[in-house]
Amino acid sequence: MRLGPFEVDHPFVLAPMAGITHSPFRQLMREMGSSVVVSELVSANGLHFASEKTLELMKFTEAERKIGLQIFGEDQTNLAAASKMVEKLGADFVDLNLGCPVPKVVRKGGGSALCRDLPKLAGILNAMVQSVSIPVTIKIRTGWDHTSINALDVVRVAADAGVSWVAIHGRTRAQGYSGQADWDLIGDVKAKSPIPILGNGDLTTPELAVRRLRETGVDGVLIGRAALRNPFIFRQAEALWKGQSIAPPRKEDYRKFFVRQRALLEGGFELRKATLHAKKFLAWYSAGFPNCHEYRKGIFETQDPEQLWNDANTFFFEKSGEREWDFLQQPFLMGGHG
Ligand SMILES: Cc1cc2nc3c(=O)[nH]c(=O)nc-3n(C[C@H](O)[C@H](O)[C@H](O)COP(=O)(O)O)c2cc1C
Repeated sequence: MRLGPFEVDHPFVLAPMAGITHSPFRQLMREMGSSVVVSELVSANGLHFASEKTLELMKFTEAERKIGLQIFGEDQTNLAAASKMVEKLGADFVDLNLGCPVPKVVRKGGGSALCRDLPKLAGILNAMVQSVSIPVTIKIRTGWDHTSINALDVVRVAADAGVSWVAIHGRTRAQGYSGQADWDLIGDVKAKSPIPILGNGDLTTPELAVRRLRETGVDGVLIGRAALRNPFIFRQAEALWKGQSIAPPRKEDYRKFFVRQRALLEGGFELRKATLHAKKFLAWYSAGFPNCHEYRKGIFETQDPEQLWNDANTFFFEKSGEREWDFLQQPFLMGGHG
């Protein structure tokens, strides 16, 4: 099937998450079935003088393709220059963050604030599209607040500029991460959009991902936080979408998955940092398993990576028992950059 400019196996895509969807995790999620991946947001301002840390955020491996690098900013010249840099780095597409609700970003006019000024946005999107030959995509919210829902207007501006798809997180900027993503609105925008739409927000299970996709007719869906509790979600959603049945992952699946994640983290980061990342992921994966609170306490007290992964084996293989899948509906990580 096609997802905008790309040929993909299915429409389920890992949502960008700052501090989480780094190169090792993106590669892991590509292997676990995410059909494309996007980096976390990187500031377009002064990108040509970028620090080592920023350049690090923009690194990716061939195994991640199709990979988009996400930028944010408010200045047309900087955003066009940053798009060129993304192209030069070899990314498959450049994604503009127009959904970030964080005060530090919106105060300057970037992130979700840019969608409040459509003429300015039109100028920026035109400049970005004209400055590169790779596709330009955007990720937005439904509007600034409930009195100014303008996702469809933004989509029309984007379509006129030649943007390849619009991903919509179904909340307003004012909502932050509270309330529910508005999938009726996403469906409505999709029905009127001349370009592909990816829906996003609160897809907690593979069943829900497939249902939302079918009900709204969107071209694809982004799955963020749910992939941190259930990293098997892309393969499961793909299977359901293809009419196959799915079973919960087996202990053997977790074992293989942990071996791979450890290798990728330790290959991508120095050991201390890899271990810090591993702790966060293991804590998220343990949600809903019996005794997960006790296990998490142990994770953050452990300093030795060997012990960390051994404890994970013990927990997930010997003590885990049945997972309460209902638990996955409970909200978590209620803050982020999109
Ligand atoms: C910790 C965290 C960091 C995020 N960072 C980004 C980001 O860098 N760029 C972006 O466009 N969205 C970012 N988001 C928003 C997600 O991509 C997504 O829109 C949001 O989490 C809703 O989807 P979900 O319910 O499937 O998680 C972030 C979300 C979280 C929780």
